[in-house]
Amino acid sequence: MLTIHSWHDLTAFNTLAMPAKAQFFAELSDLNDLPELLDFIAKQDLPSLWIGGGSNLVLADEVPGCVVHIATKGIEIQSDSEESVLIKVAAGESWHGLVTHCIENGWYGLENLALIPGSVGASPVQNIGAYGVEVADLIDQVEVFDTLSNTFDVMQKADCQFAYRDSLFKRNPGRFIITSVRFNLSKQFEAKCSYAALQGWLDAQGIKELSAQAIFDAVVAVRQSKLPNPEVLPNAGSFFKNPVVSNDCFEGLRQIYPEIPNYPDASGVKLAAGWLIDQCGWKGLYRERVGVHKDQALVIVNHAGGSRQDIDELADDIKQSVFNRFSVRLEQEPIAYP
Ligand code: EPU
Repeated sequence: MLTIHSWHDLTAFNTLAMPAKAQFFAELSDLNDLPELLDFIAKQDLPSLWIGGGSNLVLADEVPGCVVHIATKGIEIQSDSEESVLIKVAAGESWHGLVTHCIENGWYGLENLALIPGSVGASPVQNIGAYGVEVADLIDQVEVFDTLSNTFDVMQKADCQFAYRDSLFKRNPGRFIITSVRFNLSKQFEAKCSYAALQGWLDAQGIKELSAQAIFDAVVAVRQSKLPNPEVLPNAGSFFKNPVVSNDCFEGLRQIYPEIPNYPDASGVKLAAGWLIDQCGWKGLYRERVGVHKDQALVIVNHAGGSRQDIDELADDIKQSVFNRFSVRLEQEPIAYP
C-alpha cells in the first residue's frame, strides 16, 4: 500500500542528518507499487530523487518534488555451482547485511567491503570501494527502471561504465532507478589484503591464517578505528575523491613533499585527498555546527543540525586551501541534491 506524505522530514534518511524536508515522500517496499508512484510523479510533473541508505547525499533544506525511499527486500540464488553462486539482491537490502549474509553462506568476494553504510541499490552508483576491492569487481548485472524509455531493463556489467567512484548511473542522475543487483561470488576464498592498513592490522594481531571472516573482522576494526559511525556522528564517508594529477604535476609536488602518499593510476598519479587536507590543518576542526573528523581529514561531520549552507561553506574553504597550497582541485564525492 503506497502512502505519499507531504513536507516529510528526511533527517533519518540521510547519514549526514541534514534537516531536509521533502515536498513529497514515499516508501517503496513493493515493486508492484512502482507504476502508481511513477504515475503520480508524472501527473504532477515533479522531479524525483530515489534514495537507499542516503549515505552519499548532501541535501538542501527543502527538497522539491518527490523523494522515494527504496525499501524492497530479498536475496535470491539464481545459479549455484561448486565454484560460484549468482545472487540477485533487491535494491533496498542493507549493504553490510548482505556482506555478512554472504560470509555466513560461504560466498566470497565482498568481505573487504564490510561496514560501508548504505543500501545494495546504491552500491553501483558510486562503485563503492575499499581496501583494494570495488563492487564492480563482483557485479554481474544491474536491473533498472529507465525513466527515459519508461521500461525495465537489465544492464550487463560492461554497460554500466564503472570507474573509480563513478558509473553510468552517477553520470545520468535521475534517469535510472536501480531495482536489484546481481553478484557473481566465488565459493573459493581468495584473500585480498595488499592494502597497507589492512595488512598492518592483520600483522599487528599476529593473524596468519587468512579466512573471509578474518578479513571481514580486520576491515571492520580498521574502519571503526578511522571512520566515524554515522549513527553516532553524522557523516557521508569520504567527502572528496582522491584526485588524479598528471605525472609532471606529481613530480613537482614530490620535490617539495617527498613523503606525499601516491598510488598508480591509468591516467596519471592518484593522491590522497585526506593527506592534502590534513596538511592544510583541517583535521579535527570544529565550526559551529559542522567540522572535519578528528581522525580522518577526508570526512566532514555534522555535529549539530548543520545546514546545506554550513556544509557547502566548509567544503569550499577546504577546496580553496588545498588549491592554494598544492594547486590541486578536489572534487566532492557525495551527490549534492538539488
Ligand atoms: N591521511 C592523512 N591524514 C588524514 C587522512 C589520511 O595523512 O587525515 C593519509 C594516510 O596516512 C594515507 C593516505 O592519506 O597515507 C590515505 O588515507 P586513507 O587510507 O585513510 O584514505 P584513502 O585510502 O584515500 C580510500 C577511500 C575510502 C576507503 C579507504 C580504504 C576514497 C575517496 N576514499 O580512502 O572510502 O574506505 O580508501 O580503502 O577513495 C568512502 O568512499 O566513503 C570511503 C571511506
